[in-house]
Amino acid sequence: MSAPAEAGVDRPLPVSATLGAVVAERREAADGVAHLTLRPADGGQFPEWEAGAHVDLHIPGHTRQYSVCSSPANRASLEIAVLREPESRGGSAYVHDELGVGAHVVVGGPRNNFSLAPSRKYLFLAGGIGITPMVPMIEAAEQAGREWRLAYGGRSLRTMAFAQELLDAYGPERVLLFPSEEGRRLDLEGLLGIPRALTLVYACGPRRLLDAIEDYCLGWPAGALHLERFAAAPGAGGSAGPFEVELRRTGRVVDVAADESVLEAVEAAGVRVLSSCRQGVCGTCEIPVLAGEVDHRDAILSPEDRARSATMMVCVSRAAAGCPRLTLDL
Ligand code: FES
Repeated sequence: MSAPAEAGVDRPLPVSATLGAVVAERREAADGVAHLTLRPADGGQFPEWEAGAHVDLHIPGHTRQYSVCSSPANRASLEIAVLREPESRGGSAYVHDELGVGAHVVVGGPRNNFSLAPSRKYLFLAGGIGITPMVPMIEAAEQAGREWRLAYGGRSLRTMAFAQELLDAYGPERVLLFPSEEGRRLDLEGLLGIPRALTLVYACGPRRLLDAIEDYCLGWPAGALHLERFAAAPGAGGSAGPFEVELRRTGRVVDVAADESVLEAVEAAGVRVLSSCRQGVCGTCEIPVLAGEVDHRDAILSPEDRARSATMMVCVSRAAAGCPRLTLDL
């Protein structure tokens, strides 16, 4: 997986804009799911975004990423739906416990690592809170007059945010609900067992579901499957040892120890790199790779992006085993 010498980046690299916002409305979208409407604190508008975008929520001690679940047509407000995670590291618990109507938050983005590519047909697959990016995607597909279907799995209808709204709006032919407590599980064999031409698959949900979807889509055309993961994949067996990073723009070479990330090493050397989640899920720290072989450990790049290896998320990805040096456009 060597990077070409003049690797290009065809996706916009991230920007660092943040905006003060106020929680204007709050409701329970489902059991354990808080649905917040945020408005810019200055009464203005949020930056433009497209279906599939997420925002960074900067809350005390944490930055968390949440998909925008409202329409990009309305930039005066922006909506997110947050599941209370039983093992929350502070993010979802803070949202649930502290962000009532009138609370102030700092919002970064919106940024999009999960954009809706043009297609004649779409199959949207959602597991649990993975439904959130699908809501504006469905709106976009509908407005473009495209064929689409949604298959949405969850524990029960009570826990499945937006299920009833989507069913009421679009009907049971296009909105297929799979509440497991009623003995209905996402039928991946039926949905994905036969590759379909001219159809793009967009999937978001828990890791096990997305891993299974990836397996089912192995026979689909390259580029048909688009995933958004909540967490980065565990290390793929690349180098856990030290290596070097050459920073081409500054002409420096930085040692990366076995127990630190490229981001940490570069920051320790006094070079500033934008970062947010530091877990490989937001895309803020994406840096172009000029040379070297990368062990990609993020949850953002597609298999095609990884094969091209034009960029890497320096907060989690490392040099591949046997590669002593990476050269970055930094
Ligand atoms: Fe979020 Fe690296 S900081 S992917």
